[in-house]
Amino acid sequence: MSPRPSVAVRIEDALRHPPVPANAVDPCTLVIFGAGGDLTRRKLIPALYHLMGDGMLPPAFSVIGVAREPLDDASFCAAMGRALEEFVRGAADAGHGASLVKRLSYVCGDLDDPKTYGALRERIESAEARLPSPPGRLFYLAIPPSVYPEAIRQLHESGVAPRTHEATADRWVRIIIEKPFGHSGDSARALNAVVRRAFAEHQAYRIDHYLGKETVQNLLVFRFANSIFEPVWNRQHVHHVQITAAESVGVEHRGHYYEEAGVVRDMFQNHLLQLLTLMAMEPPIAFSADAVRDEKVKVLRAIRPIQPAEMHDYLVRGQYGPGSIAGQPVPGYRAEPNVAPDSGTATYAAARFMIDNWRWQDVPFYLRSGKRLPHRATEIAIQFRQPPHFMFPMLQGQQLEPNVIAVRVQPNEGIALRFEVKVPGVTVRMVSVDMNFEYEDAFGTASHEAYETLLLDCMLGDATLFTRSDEVEAAWAVVDPIIDFWQHKRPDHFPNYAAGSWGPDVAAEFIARFGARWRMP
Ligand code: BG6
Repeated sequence: MSPRPSVAVRIEDALRHPPVPANAVDPCTLVIFGAGGDLTRRKLIPALYHLMGDGMLPPAFSVIGVAREPLDDASFCAAMGRALEEFVRGAADAGHGASLVKRLSYVCGDLDDPKTYGALRERIESAEARLPSPPGRLFYLAIPPSVYPEAIRQLHESGVAPRTHEATADRWVRIIIEKPFGHSGDSARALNAVVRRAFAEHQAYRIDHYLGKETVQNLLVFRFANSIFEPVWNRQHVHHVQITAAESVGVEHRGHYYEEAGVVRDMFQNHLLQLLTLMAMEPPIAFSADAVRDEKVKVLRAIRPIQPAEMHDYLVRGQYGPGSIAGQPVPGYRAEPNVAPDSGTATYAAARFMIDNWRWQDVPFYLRSGKRLPHRATEIAIQFRQPPHFMFPMLQGQQLEPNVIAVRVQPNEGIALRFEVKVPGVTVRMVSVDMNFEYEDAFGTASHEAYETLLLDCMLGDATLFTRSDEVEAAWAVVDPIIDFWQHKRPDHFPNYAAGSWGPDVAAEFIARFGARWRMP
């Protein structure tokens, strides 16, 4: 569906304006801890490349990679050059690539060794000495969570990353902390305490890459820049909400991590609960970091705690066995590298959350996520109530399809509205149709990666799309009881779904008990 001419002109006009004014980002140095890792190669360096290509980075911008591998600047730059060839969208532009690579340098060292921070300080100061005013400093922790506390403590004690006062600092200093933020509510609180000892809250950017996804941000615009949806966005009109994050990949090479994490820590505590909060929150008073996050925290706090005795009314879990994806045979979870042959780790979960507030009382929010499902699809579907009185004749066995707004987060980013229409002809027959908006059709550009948005926002000092300390803790409070319960009750029925299926049968039975059925996004 191509946009109609008048719409196309409006879109063209919108795209002509640069998203942020030139020079919006202050001169700064980005330090990446864990520069030898996958995240740096696959996501961060390509994101910087695209930001640079779009003219978003300041001329005085440099990147210092820190890792243990004994590399010099030249071999680090060469490795990042190869990463660009492999991971940027489309064909890499040699000019942009070269311009990014010449801003890279490398410090080799252990994160628990004070000498690393001494060398880092020298490197940063020599880059900064060439600039007229003190540039910003951004530290990115792309390292295993177990070393976050040490890196944060040493950054603070070495003076490389000083605490700043929001209003009066002569330069900004920020830190981005990757997920997982903690392993439980207690460990998240402990990590927050470590962060607080070193940084002020306005300096700490806890990342959840789902918040950088185009459609996730669009949910805010869809809800709060339009007047027609908000009046029906409540218990009077909504029957239930389904949030799905299906993945066709297995645990890949992350068996060690996943055995400890499982699907609830890996996807629910962060990504799925974030989607739920944006879907369910009240209109914030402003599009500002604190106003938005205040409303999200209220939703998390309103989620009804699940008591151990009623877990089976709220949750099911699963683990994939062998099967096939896109016609190719794939092993079961227990046969993946670094996974115990009798592992009890869940790779699939479906949950029913109730939000105890005026807007959502009695409206179930069904959340599910799983690895090795038939294909990758993340969506939020709002299913509306049936008409109170139905006057049209129905064919035998015909069921009235409910109205649905489906927000496709990925792939085919877009929004669809499903409603009933009359089939053309002399009699009254009905069929459901979709009114469909697709980003790519409308804007003709492939959407950019979440990390581009998030890195840019952090450099601009906009924390709206990052999670605040109280928000992380509130999200753990929702999932902690589930994790505890499952830890003490080993499953005896795993594996219970074949790779390539839509999850265990118990998940279909579970939602059917409440008069609903899973969508097939
Ligand atoms: C990560 C999880 O946070 O998100 C992974 O650790 C998961 O297990 C990934 O595969 C999904 O992200 P995306 O952007 O591919 O949906």
